[in-house]
Amino acid sequence: MLTSAPKGTKDILPDEIYKWYYVEEKFREMAERFGFREIRIPVFEHTELFQRGVGDTTDIVQKEMYTFNDKAGRSLTLRPEGTAGVVRSYIQNGMSSWPQPVKLFYNITAYRYENVQKGRYREFHQFGAELFGAADPGADAEIISFLHLYFMELGIKNLKLNINSIGCPACREKYNRILKDFLRTKLDRLCETCRDRFNRNPMRILDCKVETCQNELTDVPALLDYICDDCREHFEKLKEKLAIMEIPYSVDKRIVRGLDYYTRTVFEFVSENIGSQGTVCGGGRYDGLVEACGGNPTPGIGFALGVERLLLEMESQNIEIPKPEGPDIFIGYIGEKAQRLAEIITLKLRAAGIRCEKDIMGRSVKAQMKYANKINARFVVILGDDEVESGKAELKNMATGETKDVHIDTIVDRLLKYKQGNKNE
Ligand code: HAM
Repeated sequence: MLTSAPKGTKDILPDEIYKWYYVEEKFREMAERFGFREIRIPVFEHTELFQRGVGDTTDIVQKEMYTFNDKAGRSLTLRPEGTAGVVRSYIQNGMSSWPQPVKLFYNITAYRYENVQKGRYREFHQFGAELFGAADPGADAEIISFLHLYFMELGIKNLKLNINSIGCPACREKYNRILKDFLRTKLDRLCETCRDRFNRNPMRILDCKVETCQNELTDVPALLDYICDDCREHFEKLKEKLAIMEIPYSVDKRIVRGLDYYTRTVFEFVSENIGSQGTVCGGGRYDGLVEACGGNPTPGIGFALGVERLLLEMESQNIEIPKPEGPDIFIGYIGEKAQRLAEIITLKLRAAGIRCEKDIMGRSVKAQMKYANKINARFVVILGDDEVESGKAELKNMATGETKDVHIDTIVDRLLKYKQGNKNE
């Protein structure tokens, strides 16, 4: 117990963190290109926010939340996703009086008590973005084009964009009646949760993960065939915009998404490479959510992409992420005087922005060299009594094996020039 992390959680070790930095940095850069600014929200919120926001008939709220009481008896929940928290913050911070639209992005951990498998964890990471205040399909197109460009710049191919419209509450009301008629004769073959959903929110049955429930749904009528004229026009305009931008997509009438807040546009980017958990990214419009959480009526649209799944997808497509280099220089030494000199030089190098390592293990010179090799230091310098006396030392380029006699005082300058790209120095 003590030496293993809880099921569904993972350490991200130093040897793999460079991959995370890479996708994170690119995400932040792309978000800023599209005019999104970062928001950081709490890891836990009042449980009610998710019940109201995500929806109390969803799998997430009914089965997957990490909910606990704090010492004052408040019910709190680890965020199972980011949208509800961002909406809460939008309302709490009066963002409706900011210049509209308000465009926010985030990089968060999220928590769901799920069946753990490849690509499905209990603590996972999401990059997400939310856009408030724009009801126009142009906002939907902007969100989708953000993702399209991000995946393109990462070099990811073969992610399929599927879109659908699940209409507005009026379309939903009409469809729920049709759906109930369809399901009525199958009720006794549905799971207990779905039988309860039949009365409270029949659409949630479409998203049930239980196989026997899924088997009953093969011929289920699609909501897209029953949406109202306004919703259809919105959907048609979005499709037009995607076509103009040459963003390939398919209409998938079966997408309903696992959260209750969606209205009109829903979409997913799906991979065929990483197994059953192939949805790398999901999102959609939620024009009623701000109001449902206590704010003024405000349209919204956003997405979240699973970072673990993104990295799995990149791996399966053999996309190389540049590996970080070792330290710029290793300063070895022998003897007390040389150690003092090494300490001074090391600090100077580090102050100048150079990645510098020095022995702090009391190793022999031979062992220091071995270590410098292991950590892939670009240059090595060894200081002894002679070097202290003469002020000169031998700077060795570990990649070429080349050595150069240099004045110790010039090491900082030389390394700086080297880092600036003048690699012949
Ligand atoms: P979601 O579809 O629940 O949507 O999650 C978005 C993405 O998070 C998924 O496509 C998947 O890549 C990743 N994900 C979800 N659960 C897990 C898990 N257990 N393990 C690993 N990855 C997972 C949302 O969360 C919405 N908040 C998206 C959104 C934002 N809609 C509008 N704005």
